[in-house]
Amino acid sequence: MQTATLTIDPAFRVGPVRRRTFGSFVEHLGRCVYTGIHDPGHPTADADGFRGDVIDLTQELGVSTVRYPGGNFVSGYRWEDGVGPRELRPARLDLAWHSTDPNLVGVDEFMRWAARAGVEPMMAVNLGTRGVQEALDLLEYCNVRGGTRLSDQRRANGAAEPYDVRMWCLGNEMDGPWQIGHKTAHEYGRLAAETARAMRMVDPDLELVACGSSSSAMPTFGEWERVVLGEAYEQVDLISAHAYYFEEDGDLGSFLASAVDLDHFVESVTATADAVRARKKTSKRIHLSFDEWNVWYQKRAASRPPTGHDWPVAPVLLEDRYNVADAVVVGNLLIALLRHTDRVHSASLAQLVNVIAPIMTEPGGRSWRQTIFHPFAQAARYAVGDVLRVAVDAPTYETAKFGDAALVDAVATHDAESGAVTVFAVNRAQTGPVRVEVDVRSLPGLRTATATTLCHPDHTWTATADDDTTVVPRALPAPLADMRLTVELPAVSWNVVRLAG
Ligand code: AHR
Repeated sequence: MQTATLTIDPAFRVGPVRRRTFGSFVEHLGRCVYTGIHDPGHPTADADGFRGDVIDLTQELGVSTVRYPGGNFVSGYRWEDGVGPRELRPARLDLAWHSTDPNLVGVDEFMRWAARAGVEPMMAVNLGTRGVQEALDLLEYCNVRGGTRLSDQRRANGAAEPYDVRMWCLGNEMDGPWQIGHKTAHEYGRLAAETARAMRMVDPDLELVACGSSSSAMPTFGEWERVVLGEAYEQVDLISAHAYYFEEDGDLGSFLASAVDLDHFVESVTATADAVRARKKTSKRIHLSFDEWNVWYQKRAASRPPTGHDWPVAPVLLEDRYNVADAVVVGNLLIALLRHTDRVHSASLAQLVNVIAPIMTEPGGRSWRQTIFHPFAQAARYAVGDVLRVAVDAPTYETAKFGDAALVDAVATHDAESGAVTVFAVNRAQTGPVRVEVDVRSLPGLRTATATTLCHPDHTWTATADDDTTVVPRALPAPLADMRLTVELPAVSWNVVRLAG
């Protein structure tokens, strides 16, 4: 059997675990909003039409922030359409997803849903078809206490208190030619800077996110960040990154090593941001908002929007069904996000419900957990305190996309208060288990250990509404002796080891 060693040491501190790493995303796309979070006919629906079962699952998932309302959708969105009496709201064409949006859910409903779900809203403004004024209008509607036209309109619509939204995305994927109102880096950088400058006149303490690249494969990757930050460095706090991975042509080895690309992505963007920082001779650092990441099989028919005269409301779109290998990759991407906690200050699993999502629903019916639900829920729950880089000594395997990749990847968290340590680890080996020795001699107070694994002899096993429990995290033997813990990580598995005093 192959073997690996993981060395855990509190001296390997990267930074604090940030709750915002465990954000998600609700876009007006497919069935994410309509029949996803909102389904008035559902037996668990509240007075606003929000499904109670989905709120329960969102809480179980441990989601911190939720980005809204898009995504590509936001680049054609008129937020005013979605406020006020429902019977007066217009239905509109959603050009991004070739759908019709009935505008039954808008800013006020979303804020009420967020409050009920206990999540922090993260708003995106439309910098595709709109600009500085409309961003200011939405900010006034959301955050100004009262006494102005738009803040009083919000109050008249039932929200006496301002929503006090802290994080704002300045547009979405403006580097992508598919984006409505797509711009060059220079055009976008200027617009982002001016929008941010004006928004800060309303509230200087907002946390503002400029659009970075929509993938590390974009031809403009790197140059986009350099130019945008060259224009907007002083006005923004974060730059976004988006990454979606999928198993291509049966190349499971490369797919399982997708986190290598995410590491490279984060390191390249931070290096670029720091180069701009040096040129500007400023002490301010720009951090990353990894506000779209997941596994997404974009080439499947399920991702193709309707065409022609068909503009349906809430069509079935991007409803990927995830298998065990997908869950292992999602867990590994979380490991990579956590180990960059010094620079990744926010992240959003895209998306929350039905659309490339951990939570699935039937209209008016059942809801269930996809395989990717579990690594996210475990990481959100057990990552506490500080993130520790783990020294991994593991055999490697060859991948077509990333060269040699380690068979085992891991990160740890250390709660200085309780002394507890949690190790998150994946085994990328396809043929058998890897015996892992975890060296915790630098943490002599640790006495007990428990472990779970998520795996299946058939890594293509997929959850359904009828069965979402065959593959869930299950106990794994993890004996601890002489400050060394031994655990056998099954092939293609996501694992969590918890040590305490
Ligand atoms: O999350 C699905 C889509 O992916 C989003 O609308 C867009 O921002 C990205 O390309």
